[in-house]
Amino acid sequence: MKQAIIIGASSGIGWELAVQLAAKGYQLGLMARRSGCLEKLAGKLPGEHFIQVTDVSQAEQSQAELTALIEKMGDVNLIVVNSGVGNKERKLDWVVEREMIDVNVRGFAAMSLTSMNYFTQRGAGHLVGLSSCAAHFSAGVTPTYNATKAFASSYLNGLRSRAVRSKLPITVTTIEPGFVETPMVEGKPMWLAPLEKAVAQMVTGIEKRRDHIFITKRWRLVALLLDIMPNGLIRKFM
Ligand SMILES: NC(=O)c1ccc[n+]([C@@H]2O[C@H](COP(=O)([O-])OP(=O)(O)OC[C@H]3O[C@@H](n4cnc5c(N)ncnc54)[C@H](OP(=O)(O)O)[C@@H]3O)[C@@H](O)[C@H]2O)c1
Repeated sequence: MKQAIIIGASSGIGWELAVQLAAKGYQLGLMARRSGCLEKLAGKLPGEHFIQVTDVSQAEQSQAELTALIEKMGDVNLIVVNSGVGNKERKLDWVVEREMIDVNVRGFAAMSLTSMNYFTQRGAGHLVGLSSCAAHFSAGVTPTYNATKAFASSYLNGLRSRAVRSKLPITVTTIEPGFVETPMVEGKPMWLAPLEKAVAQMVTGIEKRRDHIFITKRWRLVALLLDIMPNGLIRKFM
């Protein structure tokens, strides 16, 4: 049986990923803080699924909860670390910035590390992490969010190198969306992708065990340009 865990399944991309993976026959472990949303989701999905409430900002506790869920499910071949926060950064407010660091950096690393150690001991597996095209620039509007996503992309890249060196069949996939229509995104920014379409592209890339997935595909070009663009020019545009 195909079994997957989605961390951050209670909303947006994680919720839709659960819907699309369950339709493909996956049995799922659903993790997030809001138990009510997870129960509602599990009730909608075909088949039997597992729920584990977790707050990834409590990194060590969350690692123990992920391990307990893996044990309950018996065997897991895919783990998606999707949990993330994108707070507004109008002022440089430490409480606001710290939450993003706790969830997008500490929580992200803790969940990814536990997953990698599990796959190494299992001898195979697939880790997927949600970063963002925001990893490719910082124009000062959301400095902490950009920095947390740069961490996520760099960390996943490093884990991928370790997986390759281990010679084990472990895949590490980095997903970098531009804008996807979820509760995290306000208004109608440029090239806002409908949720269902965006997640369908993610699922295709995951099934092909891609190293890197841009959502939608045109953001690959944007990321490439951002990587070579001088900061002064980026500041002018954003
Ligand atoms: N939407 C976009 O345009 C976009 C673009 C680039 C990257 N992304 C990335 O995609 C991922 C999903 O975002 P989304 O747009 O789907 O946002 P969303 O609808 O707000 O979903 C965020 C998910 O993260 C979970 N989460 C947040 N804090 C958590 C915590 N402390 N512990 C456990 N889970 C936590 C939430 O669950 P609970 O609140 O129930 O805990 C929820 O399930 C994020 O990593 C985001 O940065 C999104």
